[in-house]
Amino acid sequence: MQNLGAANHFSHSTKVSFVLLFILTVAGIQAQTVVPAWYNQVHEVEIDKLLDKMTLEEKVGQMTLFTSDWDVTGPTIRKGYEADIKSGRLGAIFNAHTADYNRRLQKIAVEETRLGIPLLFGYDVIHGYRTIFPIPLAEAGSFNPAAAEESARIAARESAAAGLHWTFAPMVDIARDPRWGRVMEGAGEDVYLGNVMGAARVRGFQGDDLADPFTLLACAKHFAAYGAAQAGRDYHTVDISERVLHDIYLPPFKAVLDAGAATFMTSFNELDGVPATANEHLLTEILREDWGFMGFVVTDYTSINEMIPHGIAKDEAEAGLLAVNAGVDMDMQGAVFYNNLRKQVENGEVAMKMIDDAVRRVLRMKFALGLFDDPYRYSDSEREKANILTPAHREAARRIARESMILLKNDNETLPLSKNLKRIAVIGSLADSGADMIGAWHADGRAEDVVTLLTGLKEALGSAVKVDFVDVDAIKGTDRKGFDEALKAARSADAVILALGETWEMSGEAASRADIGLPGVQDQLVEELSQTGKPFVAVLFNGRPLAIPELDKKAAAILEAWFPGTEAGHAIADLLFGDDAPSAKVPLTFPRSVGQVPVFYAAKNTGRPRNPNEKYTSKYLDEENSPLYPFGYGLTYTTFSYGDPVADKTEMNRNGKVKILTTVTNTGKRTGTEVVQLYVRDLAGSVTRPLRELKAFQRVELSAGESKTVSFELTAEDLSFYRRDMTFGPEAGEYQVFVGGDSRAEKSVTITFK
Ligand code: GLC
Repeated sequence: MQNLGAANHFSHSTKVSFVLLFILTVAGIQAQTVVPAWYNQVHEVEIDKLLDKMTLEEKVGQMTLFTSDWDVTGPTIRKGYEADIKSGRLGAIFNAHTADYNRRLQKIAVEETRLGIPLLFGYDVIHGYRTIFPIPLAEAGSFNPAAAEESARIAARESAAAGLHWTFAPMVDIARDPRWGRVMEGAGEDVYLGNVMGAARVRGFQGDDLADPFTLLACAKHFAAYGAAQAGRDYHTVDISERVLHDIYLPPFKAVLDAGAATFMTSFNELDGVPATANEHLLTEILREDWGFMGFVVTDYTSINEMIPHGIAKDEAEAGLLAVNAGVDMDMQGAVFYNNLRKQVENGEVAMKMIDDAVRRVLRMKFALGLFDDPYRYSDSEREKANILTPAHREAARRIARESMILLKNDNETLPLSKNLKRIAVIGSLADSGADMIGAWHADGRAEDVVTLLTGLKEALGSAVKVDFVDVDAIKGTDRKGFDEALKAARSADAVILALGETWEMSGEAASRADIGLPGVQDQLVEELSQTGKPFVAVLFNGRPLAIPELDKKAAAILEAWFPGTEAGHAIADLLFGDDAPSAKVPLTFPRSVGQVPVFYAAKNTGRPRNPNEKYTSKYLDEENSPLYPFGYGLTYTTFSYGDPVADKTEMNRNGKVKILTTVTNTGKRTGTEVVQLYVRDLAGSVTRPLRELKAFQRVELSAGESKTVSFELTAEDLSFYRRDMTFGPEAGEYQVFVGGDSRAEKSVTITFK
């Protein structure tokens, strides 16, 4: 999306955008609208002509999305969608994929209906289509937006080759409660990291040209504040202040809109008593009037129908009115628009202009995709074969998986392991489970494509090393079955790898956990293994931060692998044997116990911050305040030291910038990559402000002994927030600027905003 004010050189498309901006301004669309790049491919005049030809029933069809009966991602499946296409009453389908299948459905729409309006095909391509990348939470931990953009681009390449036009991603819900299963889909707790990774994924999915047959429409979801569900229980109530909504939960949505996101999806939750799908404040006032969004809004799965159990609609007809009047353009799977909207327009309950505006926004995307030029450009089975699960895609998946894994512990430099071993014990069913490595929301990912941990280790070690694999299932197990064999293998091994964590179904949608420890009897296995006295390396596979204080005490080393995707085993082996070094950092705080939740770094100080010597201060009687592993934390195979940060000026005003410099030195014996992080604290605001907020980061590779000066630039925008009067901006006063390797960074410099 061109930010017109920022363009230094006026390319052709920017000149076009200036013209468009003028037209849009005249057309009454907000002057501050930053026109998305894809708008250059939209032909409003063509849309006008088509709208003039359409019947009301055909218009409602463009506002209707049904699932195919291939893949269930929600509670109901509607039969007969092919007949709906033929009747012109269905404009989009999800969960239908492969070039041939979608071509068959598209032919019905284009060749057997009155107007031949092409279908839109959507699918949940969340972290890869067939080549599966690490779950988005893991990828966020890489603090590498280029990696996120690359994996999204590959996912788009594979999906578009398989007949798809639209992915229901990126999920940009800030989440600070690891009990919530859907933390695996997002970028974790931090606003800035969420902004950066969300925008990178939109760029990856949409590229520079939506008509390019290797790009997809992105979908920003779930709008909004779905991650703030009470008690971390999926679909639960969200009750947050307008300030928290604007400071914490909305920024990633604005970031992805500014990156050009073509569609938005409403969330299931209510917000301040109004379900998002009926929330005019969200969908019209903020999204369209304040932000100038020009794409379309789709609901989440039957979320219009769910306004009845929410208790704000007596029946589906009323729910449909609430949704369309709030600003919903397309009804996913609910058939509420399908069943009611025509009558509601005919009896004057809904203005035809409301329908035309919604249909226009949907048709814009079909034009931007080039579907009216060539409705079959995405349905080429030869292209599909050539672009799915290629060696290049696997290489990218392996590299990005390596960059997404966090070294949480490494006592006595246990890692990297030498390959000069006679025997290695590999314990735990997850070590040989392809299905678990691809995690939830794995689209067309297949267990049989996966390189498991066991396979990766065997390939890395070769046939000379004896690999004793003990397939003990301590996750679903309820007793010691397999423990004795595991302990025996450990005792006779030169190295012990213990695969622990969750199965893939234990996170994702409708998968909240009240206890976020190691499920099953894994803690017992850890305890008995530790009693052998044999040091062991734990490799964690999980979709959420786990409360693992016992494992932290007993394991010699812990590598957080999350659900690393199709190349899991190769990536882990690369790190365990030192062919590469871990570099990821914690994107979502690991608590010591679930009783601390929510616990996150950007917390407020309170009026009685913890003082261990004072009774009446903010603390627990039975637990630390500090988490087990804080945001931004992660080890590698070397160490780093930081010089004191220096500011090139100590004062800044609204138009000013301050450069912050710090010297980072590799003080160890191996090359390593550090994520240098910059945090800001507003020492006294018109409202209380977090102890720290991440405002910038840089991945820096340093060889042993090497030093580098890392430079950041702070602007007034970086210091801005929703002030006491709910206006957005900075405030005069002192700001402490911290630079370091995680959110506990101590070294700081103070600047004054005038
Ligand atoms: C699900 C999810 C949403 C997904 C949609 C389609 O219920 O909430 O993220 O995109 O339905 O599968």
